Amino acid sequence: MSSQIIPVEPFDYVVFGGSGDLAERKLLPALYHRQIEGQFSEPTRVIGASRSALSHEEYRKFADAALKEHLKKGEYDEAQVKKFLARLFYVPVDARSDAGWDQLKKILDEGKERVRAFYLAVAPGIFGDISQKIHDHKLITKQTRIVVEKPIGRDLASALQLNDTIGRVFKEEQIFRIDHYLGKETVQNLMALRFANALYEPLWNANHIDHVQITVAESVGLEGRAGYYDTAGALRDMVQNHILQLLCLTAMEIPSSMDSEAVRDEKLKVLRALKPINASNVEQATVRGQYRAGASSGGPVKGYLDELEGGVSNTETFVAIKAEIGNWRWAGVPFYIRTGKRLAGRMSEIVITFKPIPHNIFDQAAGRTVANQLIIRLQPDEGVKQSLMIKDPGPGGMRLRNVSLDMSFASAFNVRNPDAYERLLMDVIRSNQTLFMRRDEVEAAWKWVDPILKGWEEAGQQVQGYTAGTWGPSQAIALIERDGRTWHDDI
Ligand code: BG6
Repeated sequence: MSSQIIPVEPFDYVVFGGSGDLAERKLLPALYHRQIEGQFSEPTRVIGASRSALSHEEYRKFADAALKEHLKKGEYDEAQVKKFLARLFYVPVDARSDAGWDQLKKILDEGKERVRAFYLAVAPGIFGDISQKIHDHKLITKQTRIVVEKPIGRDLASALQLNDTIGRVFKEEQIFRIDHYLGKETVQNLMALRFANALYEPLWNANHIDHVQITVAESVGLEGRAGYYDTAGALRDMVQNHILQLLCLTAMEIPSSMDSEAVRDEKLKVLRALKPINASNVEQATVRGQYRAGASSGGPVKGYLDELEGGVSNTETFVAIKAEIGNWRWAGVPFYIRTGKRLAGRMSEIVITFKPIPHNIFDQAAGRTVANQLIIRLQPDEGVKQSLMIKDPGPGGMRLRNVSLDMSFASAFNVRNPDAYERLLMDVIRSNQTLFMRRDEVEAAWKWVDPILKGWEEAGQQVQGYTAGTWGPSQAIALIERDGRTWHDDI
């Protein structure tokens, strides 16, 4: 099946932090791919903006190097790159002074009628300053949107403040809070699987589902982000946003349509129904871990503390949580969540384990029946697996065997797997908010996370060491095994 590309309207993407890490690794390569696939209409421009004093030409060189470094083999096409670089411009601007803003306005005024998107790939500390400058310099047109990257706050109070600050200048429908997990193909597939098939929905509840596991395991460590990471930790960095979003899509009621408000209303209800974890139950419901020296990706790696200059920290690089949703659909069904750095592999998946059959009619020689599992794999090899019991083929009587209907998307469809940012960057231009977080969602997520952070502090819950390259501290295994269940660790 071939993919269908619908070109978007001509646009100007202004990337604040245009010479930074995110632009280099993700945004520029993603935009390049959208150009190749024919999604742009002309004239369309990408305007880098940051404090570095670069000329247009120097920015194009930076972008060229970024593409060379981050595109996969065979994706760098001379003619396409030339065309892409020609649409790049650069303006040095200072978020905290008026330097550069007139020049930015001049460039943007050349395309007043185009869709205009401001992408804030900068530290949240200057979101407010930039929004204000955009406003003061009269850069907001009817067709303007703003995109903000996480972290949106480090707790509820700071998130409220940040949302207020941006909200003073932009209307909610102009604000795109990006969570790149929502742009991953399999995450969108989760909705297709649930809502475009009659098969699963009748079973998608506490009567038929035993428990859900959500794992986002990374093999990488800090990747030069120690300064940020040590003030955040795994709960803020991964759970508050990406993992709770996955949980919402797994657990939400069926929205009436794919309309952005309908989808986000349902996600919000899940967040609000999460049972509180606080000082009274935080020690039973959560495990915090921190990696020690070990081996990862085939070589020896340092421990977390050795990567920090100070060498002392109680920040978690791993967290496991037993979460529960207090509503009719999910009463009594645990959602086990875990995420961490320097784990045994890069693997993200949602595992739905159904209840065992109520009565076994087969005799002992047939072997054990295993509960069905639906595994939605986000990475590395995106796909869906459904385990089923079958009769072992061939003679020899009735012997049961657990097999998987395994669909790897890459091999099934033979298409390039687009990076999550590609879809999301274009949704901004199309003004489609379905895969972006609404203000109340972000705040509801913090409302659940804050008491966990506070609970840890009050209970003095320390991080448990785990060796880099393993599946985390033994306490995380105990968290699920004391309920008679096990983590799905099959990579
Ligand atoms: C980011 C986190 O949001 O997501 C990083 O800040 C993390 O710490 C990254 O490594 C993971 O994204 P992906 O797409 O590689 O799973």
